[in-house]
Amino acid sequence: MTDIISGELKPDLDASSADSETASAVTIIVCSSCRYPGTPAETFPRPGSALADATREAAADSTVDVRQVACLGNCKRGLSAAVLRAGSWSYIFGELDTDNAADLVAGAELFAGSSDGFMPFRNRPEALKRGLIARVPTAANLQDLK
Ligand code: FES
Repeated sequence: MTDIISGELKPDLDASSADSETASAVTIIVCSSCRYPGTPAETFPRPGSALADATREAAADSTVDVRQVACLGNCKRGLSAAVLRAGSWSYIFGELDTDNAADLVAGAELFAGSSDGFMPFRNRPEALKRGLIARVPTAANLQDLK
């Protein structure tokens, strides 16, 4: 059930995903087309592609799934990625660097183990604190936003 606590929606988690003993499936989506601000469009290979490859490698021994897309619509904010978990809010990050792959995986693992369905801020890697662009509720959460 979705609750509103302190004016903030809580994720719509089912009983199994709310169990702190059970990690929920989390997916990192990296934009493989991103480049650093101010660099020419003709820059290839794109740093975003390197971040996608490094993130996939960093997640090899984890349960975190890594996918890549051609654009997340965050093009002016440097290298970008999103972290998704079913039934939870989604997180969009920018201003990343090619060496933030392990940070993305660490944040995703933190999110997977979260009992309230939010990515905990306190232990989140610094790149995922300063680089947060937005968090987006699921469509199921919208009914409680009236
Ligand atoms: S090119 Fe990466 S967000 Fe658009």
